[in-house]
Amino acid sequence: MRGAESKTCGGRSWDITGCVLRRADHFMVREKFLEKVKAGEAGEKLSRQDICFLLTTQETQEQDILLKASDRVRQEFLGDEIHLRAVVEFSNICVQNCLYCGLRRDNRELVRYRMTLAEIVSATQEAAAMGFKTAVLQSGEDPWFTRERLSDLIREIKETTGLALTLSVGERTYQDYRDWREAGADRYLLKFETSSPLLYKYLRGGLELTHRLNALNWLKELGYEVGSGNMVGLPGQSDEDLATDIEFFRQYDYDMIGIGPFIAHPQTPLAGARNGEFEKTLRVLAITRILLRDTNLPATTALGVLQEDGRWKALSAGANVFMPDVTPITYRRHYQIYPGKAQISASEEAIANRAVSLGRRISAGSGFRSHSHKSSGPNS
Ligand code: 5AD
Ligand code: SF4
Repeated sequence: MRGAESKTCGGRSWDITGCVLRRADHFMVREKFLEKVKAGEAGEKLSRQDICFLLTTQETQEQDILLKASDRVRQEFLGDEIHLRAVVEFSNICVQNCLYCGLRRDNRELVRYRMTLAEIVSATQEAAAMGFKTAVLQSGEDPWFTRERLSDLIREIKETTGLALTLSVGERTYQDYRDWREAGADRYLLKFETSSPLLYKYLRGGLELTHRLNALNWLKELGYEVGSGNMVGLPGQSDEDLATDIEFFRQYDYDMIGIGPFIAHPQTPLAGARNGEFEKTLRVLAITRILLRDTNLPATTALGVLQEDGRWKALSAGANVFMPDVTPITYRRHYQIYPGKAQISASEEAIANRAVSLGRRISAGSGFRSHSHKSSGPNS
């Protein structure tokens, strides 16, 4: 990192972005780094190499410059609002066998649960009563929730709560997605996890990345606001892979992008693998904000697992969405995608107070990315 370029930084000061940077002991900000951040912030297109260059910095001051630029882009394009999305994890049963995930089919140590339809409806009603404007229905790939059952559930939730409704139930058929959209679902989350086809196939038990990307295209075509995302620090993932992930985000222009560190789960084949790096995850988030401008970026729970203040750091580095878990407590502890997840929680009140202390506020709206998004189904 301290190559010939860095030496040209010595003794100089810059005034980009309103803060004057001066030489200090151990101060090492490369001119090229500043240039690229500045170009990105100004909306110029960064190449894959530029993305990789920003991503791989080892210098605290450089990282700081990157994160501050991201925070300014967030401020400029989205203002100070934080959108809350209440997550209901309604089933931890999954037919898939992803190597990284605690819900994987072969994990026999996990206590499995499936909330009843009435319990799910009531959890969303409670969320609405608490003031949330969006509910996210999330589960493993659980076939008990047929197209019809989920359609009925969506209708009932839309009719009784008026919440914006996000689904996150994995890869399903086009007809499933179509009927759920018609029933009133507004958004869909389906992370592609990694843009490397080989790594994807290895980590997801032989499944193909192209199927995932096809499903994401269907969702867009059907008028959902589409969320995707990745994991940072997967075993075998390179920085180039991460740069390609970011290029995918830009190319597909997802409406929401969840970026979280990989956390090794002891009951999976990846037990004992190294966790993703906290700081690198923040850099992926920051670069994504700089390139995507107005997309919704959650402060992911996995960041909060790696560092107590992780989600708040993310909110100061480009994130604008917070997703509290409102799953009934008896079930919540069994939704162990990765260790430490169930311990993470924050009441809405605590979030609001903390937000204010950061100069932010909780949004009173539904937080659609596009003002032209059409809510479909009973409430439209
Ligand atoms: N560490 C971090 N995130 C994980 N996920 C699954 N397993 C892990 C893990 N071990 C994330 C994936 C998936 C979502 C359900 O949880 O991104 O999309
Ligand atoms: Fe199932 Fe999703 Fe976990 Fe894979 S990541 S095992 S599809 S819950």
